[in-house]
Amino acid sequence: MFLRRSAVVYTLLFTITASSLVAAQNSSCPLDFSVLQPFRRPSPDGATTCQYLLQGLRLLYSHHLRQTGSFLPPSDSAASCWAALQSSIAGFLPRFDVRSRCGFQTPWISQGCMNITTRSQFESLIPNSTLTTAVMRCNLSLESNTPCASCTQSLSSFQAFLTGTSVGNVSDCAAFPSIYAAAHANRYGPTDKGTAKCLFQLDLASGSSGKNGKKMVKILVPLLAAVLLVASAWLFWYYRRKRKDFDRRKMKKQRDSLEAGITQSRLDSMSGSTTLVKFSFEEIKKATNSFSRNNIIGRGGYGNVFKGVLQDGTEVAFKRFKNCSAGGDANFAHEVEVIASIRHVNLLALRGYCTATTPYEGHQRIIVCDLVSNGSLHDHLFGDLETQLSWPLRQRIALGMARGLAYLHYGAQPSIIHRDIKASNILLDERFEAKVADFGLAKFNPEGMTHMSTRVAGTMGYVAPEYALYGQLTEKSDVYSFGVVLLELLSRRKAIVTDDDGQPVSVADWAWSLVREGQTLDVVEDGMPEKGSPEVLEKYVLIAVLCSHPQLHARPTMDQVVKMLESNEFTVISIPQRPIPLVARRDEIDLSVSSSSGSGKLTSPTGYQAFSFGADLLHGNTNTG
Ligand SMILES: *[C@@H]1O[C@H](CO)[C@@H](O)[C@H](O)[C@H]1NC(C)=O
Ligand SMILES: *[C@@H]1O[C@H](CO)[C@@H](O)[C@H](O)[C@H]1NC(C)=O
Ligand SMILES: *[C@@H]1O[C@H](CO)[C@@H](O)[C@H](O)[C@H]1NC(C)=O
Ligand SMILES: *[C@@H]1O[C@H](CO)[C@@H](O)[C@H](O)[C@H]1NC(C)=O
Ligand SMILES: *[C@@H]1O[C@H](CO)[C@@H](O)[C@H](O)[C@H]1NC(C)=O
Repeated sequence: MFLRRSAVVYTLLFTITASSLVAAQNSSCPLDFSVLQPFRRPSPDGATTCQYLLQGLRLLYSHHLRQTGSFLPPSDSAASCWAALQSSIAGFLPRFDVRSRCGFQTPWISQGCMNITTRSQFESLIPNSTLTTAVMRCNLSLESNTPCASCTQSLSSFQAFLTGTSVGNVSDCAAFPSIYAAAHANRYGPTDKGTAKCLFQLDLASGSSGKNGKKMVKILVPLLAAVLLVASAWLFWYYRRKRKDFDRRKMKKQRDSLEAGITQSRLDSMSGSTTLVKFSFEEIKKATNSFSRNNIIGRGGYGNVFKGVLQDGTEVAFKRFKNCSAGGDANFAHEVEVIASIRHVNLLALRGYCTATTPYEGHQRIIVCDLVSNGSLHDHLFGDLETQLSWPLRQRIALGMARGLAYLHYGAQPSIIHRDIKASNILLDERFEAKVADFGLAKFNPEGMTHMSTRVAGTMGYVAPEYALYGQLTEKSDVYSFGVVLLELLSRRKAIVTDDDGQPVSVADWAWSLVREGQTLDVVEDGMPEKGSPEVLEKYVLIAVLCSHPQLHARPTMDQVVKMLESNEFTVISIPQRPIPLVARRDEIDLSVSSSSGSGKLTSPTGYQAFSFGADLLHGNTNTG
């Protein structure tokens, strides 16, 4: 609400008088301030004025570069340039002393990045291929998101060659690529509507005058409030209904499969071969050496995991749930039966289960699974294991996880939403083939629920926002968690870490901020053995970022993910706009408001915009068996 309102206020237009424009023409400053006239101005009381002035100056520099071939005005014109800027804003920002209010020093207006002054100096620093790519991607209308993102993305690779020091903060090395591209790569030049918006975050003002604008605000604010109210009421109702529908569908499904299960067990007893064994508590006690401490191979909020040897000599794992009551046993046995019927090389096979009440240990629920020899992905990434996974192993693990989940979603009958995908639920066998564990059992795990309603099962940092906030559960929630685990696998950074200011930062937000800045490969762990080609690494990072997108419709399906990971072609991944993170710093929010367009959309000056890499595979044919 607040953001909407300020966006509207921000769109207020201020007319400036012709006389102030004339005064702006100081012959000794070569910058042409009239160029800025058509662009929308900040309101006098806005906190965004310095940002506007900064971007406005950069647009002026670009215009100057296009006209004259030099980036900045000569240093002897610095004083008169400030004076000219001052008088050009006098019409709408009277008594705003730019230098003292924005912390600029006088010489800074004619100083920039590494003493570069001319176009040819700049071009000599950037390799031809990088320049050519940028021109290719920026030489078109940048008005819509995709070309703009692809242009800014290619410009971000200039930074690697502009490593010298910048003087001041009026135009620094970070700003130079945009100034250059608007002047010499884009065919329309910096004053074009799309170019100014994309590269300088400046919007053209529309035709209405200040008076109309104020009137509009009077009408628009209550109107917007009403619309928002109706929309949120509708959303509330919609989610509740969806949720009810979902619960109803699920109950029906459970009933159906319960019936199917009964028929199945009759069939089984007829043929005398069951896939699922009901173990006795005594058997398990014997196999695990009376649940000896030495046999513990995993601990969690739900209970412990023990390894043990069955009578026939096979090694298995026993997962023993703690604090359970006999009440849910029927439901539990049923779930276990359904789960046991699902077999895939990348899913941990369930062999059997046990429910029992004993005099000393209380009620018991145990499931019996295949034992995998290499522990969990969590152990390898964050545990005490010294070894560092090589890239080929990580690739195999990523593909295995994806295939296992795709099978759960689209191959299994009934299809299963895992709900609790995390690094410690990805187990690795002796060949480092990933085995997704614990599917279908999330509701029996109390772990990770402490901060959430009991209806949401999952672990902090891995749970998709819509599931955490609204309890809206779809396959796409698993895709989100998969994206987080994939990012952990690529970066060896935990799902949530605390930054220097004590703020929690999710690996998804962190990776996105790097991708947005064109530093996609910085997501990948330094010093990973046998690093793959940059194209492949980049593809994996982009897929992970796409999967962990906060908006569920932006995420691909697991089938699509498998296809993208498997394909050897240059895959194309476009990442749609993303809202600012939930835990954003105050200045990030201010910036996103100041640069937002009249539509009230949240975007940041660096561009939370769609990124596109090549042809679109996502929308290709996605049928897989
Ligand atoms: C331009 O600005 C400078 C600095 O304020 C001033 O000294 C000079 O007289 C101005 N020139 C014109 C033509 O207004
Ligand atoms: C520019 O830098 C100065 C000092 O380094 C700082 O006080 C000021 O806030 C900065 N201005 C902007 C717009 O970043
Ligand atoms: C830029 O120029 C100034 C003076 O002209 C010089 O002192 C400084 O070393 C130069 N900086 C670079 C990075 O070349
Ligand atoms: C880069 O381009 C310039 C001008 O087009 C040319 O003179 C130079 O030889 C090129 N350099 C390389 C390494 O291709
Ligand atoms: C951009 O495209 C236009 C039209 O095709 C062309 O005339 C111009 O030379 C191109 N600009 C650059 C820098 O390649």
